[in-house]
Amino acid sequence: MNILNSGVGRTIRVNDKTLLSYFAGNNYLGLANNPLLVKNAIKALKKYGVNFAASRRTTGTSDIHLELEKSLAEYKGQQDAVVFASGYMGNKILLHVLRGRYDSIFADSMVHSSITDGIPCDIPQVKYYEHANPSHLEELLKASPKSRPLIITDGIFALTGEIAPVDQLYSLAQKYGATLIVDDAHATGVLGENGRGTPEHFHLDNAPDLYQSETMSKAIGSYGGFIAGNHGLIEAIRKKSTFYGASTALPPPIVAAGLSSLKLIEKHPELRTTLMNNTRMLRKGIEDLAFSTTTGSTPIIPLYFKKKQTAVHLSQFLEENGIVAPAVDYPVKTSQFIVRITVSSIHTETQIQHLLQTLKQWREKYDTHHH
Ligand SMILES: Cc1ncc(COP(=O)(O)O)c(C=O)c1O
Repeated sequence: MNILNSGVGRTIRVNDKTLLSYFAGNNYLGLANNPLLVKNAIKALKKYGVNFAASRRTTGTSDIHLELEKSLAEYKGQQDAVVFASGYMGNKILLHVLRGRYDSIFADSMVHSSITDGIPCDIPQVKYYEHANPSHLEELLKASPKSRPLIITDGIFALTGEIAPVDQLYSLAQKYGATLIVDDAHATGVLGENGRGTPEHFHLDNAPDLYQSETMSKAIGSYGGFIAGNHGLIEAIRKKSTFYGASTALPPPIVAAGLSSLKLIEKHPELRTTLMNNTRMLRKGIEDLAFSTTTGSTPIIPLYFKKKQTAVHLSQFLEENGIVAPAVDYPVKTSQFIVRITVSSIHTETQIQHLLQTLKQWREKYDTHHH
């Protein structure tokens, strides 16, 4: 396991080694260590202390929580928003609050574990359609004509960086009277004209019967989950969700960092432009090296291998050459082994070229033995 001895930026100190180039994690806009976020987090820490030590429904709701929720709603172009302890809870909260609207669940077979963990235990029917395959989903929907379906998927898949076919899923949802939930943990701040995620990417922003669960712990650079939507939905979460109402409110520095990040993202759209440029540069280089990967435009770039030992070997070779990119085989079901490279807007061109150069060296030196 990698043990960090520093915060995450474009470089990192890990396993007591000198600084390494960091192409891991989900710090897409490079904000996790941004000086302005840190400064505002410290300010809030001094004003409010470490923890409000109360749930949102009793005495845990502070002025800055409300300010953050207002900002998130504005950022998302929605009426209202709620924040809660972690993005992981978001799917569970939505599935619980929308429970009256569905009696069967159709999930992509590669969904994140926060979705499978979030499925209520009293659902009579849960079916998994083939990964990113709307035709298979439609077959399953057709085979359950009497059910009230709910379709659920990652927006950007956590391991592979693929964008789910949300436009086609939404058409099917409309056709079969289904509710659609998209877990946009990796798409918030990344996809769509304003960084509002996969629905915006597919021009489905604010479409009816489409819900998103999101997090501030990745591109936004802070921590904690959120859901934005119309007044009815958000009020229902405030009233009914014990995950929201009965768990300790997000801590002050986290709330302040979230607020600060949203302002920064709004003021600096070039953060996303740089992210996209870096992504293109790295993806192009990786394609030129003929690694097995996904095509697409997201900053999660998987290198696929048939054997676990090949992925682990490459990850170790990268680390020996000053680069962190982990070999991962969790938390989704997959038969392939992945070195998961993630790119950020704070990476320099030199770092990206160094990564490509190192991948090329590995290819030339070792790859023939493994295939
Ligand atoms: C698709 C997906 N959903 C939800 C989460 C959980 O979000 P959080 O880490 O903010 O709890 C993650 C990863 O952490 C994720 O990859």
